[in-house]
Amino acid sequence: MKRIVVLGSTGSIGRQTLDVVRQHPDRLEVVGLAAGSNAELLLRQGSEFPKAKLALFHPHPEIPSGMQALMELATLPEADLVVVSVAGVIGLRPTIAAIEAGKEIALASKEVLVAAGEIVMPLVQAKGVRLLPIDSEHSAIHQCLRGYGSGDVGEIILTASGGPFRGRNRRDLENVTATEALKHPTWSMGGKITLDSATLMNKGLEMIEARWLFSVPISSVRAVIHPQSIIHSMVRLKDGSVLAQMGWPDMRLPIQVALLDPERKPNSLPTWNPLDTPELTFEPIDEETFPCPSLARRSAEIGGTMPCAMNSANEEAANLFLRGEGTFLGIADVVREVMERHEPSKATLETLLETDRWARETAQRIIRNKPQTPHG
Ligand SMILES: NC(=O)c1ccc[n+]([C@@H]2O[C@H](COP(=O)([O-])OP(=O)(O)OC[C@H]3O[C@@H](n4cnc5c(N)ncnc54)[C@H](OP(=O)(O)O)[C@@H]3O)[C@@H](O)[C@H]2O)c1
Repeated sequence: MKRIVVLGSTGSIGRQTLDVVRQHPDRLEVVGLAAGSNAELLLRQGSEFPKAKLALFHPHPEIPSGMQALMELATLPEADLVVVSVAGVIGLRPTIAAIEAGKEIALASKEVLVAAGEIVMPLVQAKGVRLLPIDSEHSAIHQCLRGYGSGDVGEIILTASGGPFRGRNRRDLENVTATEALKHPTWSMGGKITLDSATLMNKGLEMIEARWLFSVPISSVRAVIHPQSIIHSMVRLKDGSVLAQMGWPDMRLPIQVALLDPERKPNSLPTWNPLDTPELTFEPIDEETFPCPSLARRSAEIGGTMPCAMNSANEEAANLFLRGEGTFLGIADVVREVMERHEPSKATLETLLETDRWARETAQRIIRNKPQTPHG
C-alpha cells in the first residue's frame, strides 16, 4: 500500500489522480490533499478520503493555509509519495521539501524542473529518491527506457499535437482570443497548459524537462508534430533503433504508471489498437509562427537562472492573456524581451526565487506599457 499526498488535487491532473486511486484501493491510499483556492472541492475530496490532511494556499478559516501548510503536507511523516500537480513554479518549494524528507515524487508540474532542474536533480540524487514523470511524453520515454541508461540514448523525440493553431501563420494569429486558444484538439487539461500547447511553449518546457529527467544534453532532445496524439514520444537508441509508447490520449494511464511503477495493473481505460487510427502522421514545427520552443531551448543552452526567467515570463504572460491582457503573439515577444534583459547567474534556491519575482514583474511591466489590441 502506497500512501500518497496530492498537491493540486482540485485540478485536471489532481482529479484524475484521485480516479486512479479509486481504481486501485488495494495499492493506493490518500493521506494529504492540497489546492490553491477551491476550498469547496477540497473539502468534498476530504470527506471522500477521510484519512487525508488538507491544505490550501489561499487563507481559509477551516483549512491550514499558506506555503507553510503546503510544505507540511509535502513532508507528512505518513506519506510515501507526493504527486506534484499544482499549476506552475509555485510547486518548487514543496517539491524540494518533499525530496529533502525522502519522499518519492510523481511530477506533473513541469515548471519545477524547467526553472530549477539544476538544483532539484542533484538533490534527488543526493537523497536517493525516485522522481517519476506524469507528463505523458516523459512517461512514454520512461517506459521506453526501462532497462536502458542515458548512455544508450541517441535522441529523445517528443511528440506534440500542434495545438488548435496548427497550420496557421502569424497573420492568422494576430487577433486570436483566449477562448480560441483554449480549444485543444486532443487533450482536456487546465487553462495554463492548454494555452502553452497553443503557443507550443509546452513543448519547449517539455524539452527542458526531458533533459533533466533523462540526463541528456538539450541538443539531444527535439520535438515533432504528431496531430493524432497516439504516439506519446519516442527514443532513438545509439544503435538507431527507435522505441515509441502508444495509446489513447488519456492522462490516467501515465498517472497510473507513475503511481504503481514498476507494477503494471489492469484498469478500465479504453484500449487502443492500430486499426482505430490507421494513419499516424508527423510534421516539423513551424518555428517562425511558433517561436516559443526555440526560446525555451535557448534558455536551456544558457542555463543558470535563464530557464527560470523564461518560464516565469511565460507563466505571467500566459496567465495575463487568459485574464484578457496582452495578445497571443505577444506572449513569445514578452518571453524574448525578459530573456534579453535578464543577466543569468548560478542557480540556487535564493537566486531562482528572486529571478521568478523579477521576471514576473518585468513581464507585467512590458505587457502593461505597450499598446494592446483588445481581445475577448
Ligand atoms: N492537465 C494535463 O493533462 C497535464 C498533462 C501534463 C502535465 N500537466 C502539468 O500538471 C500541472 C497541473 O496542470 P493541470 O492541467 O492539472 O492544471 P489545473 O487544472 O489548472 O490545476 C491546477 C491545480 O493547482 C492548484 N493550485 C494553483 N495555484 C496553487 C497554489 N498557489 N498553491 C497550491 N495549489 C495551487 C489548483 O488549485 P485550485 O483548483 O484551488 O485553483 C489546482 O488544484 C501543470 O504544471 C501542467 O503543466 C498537466
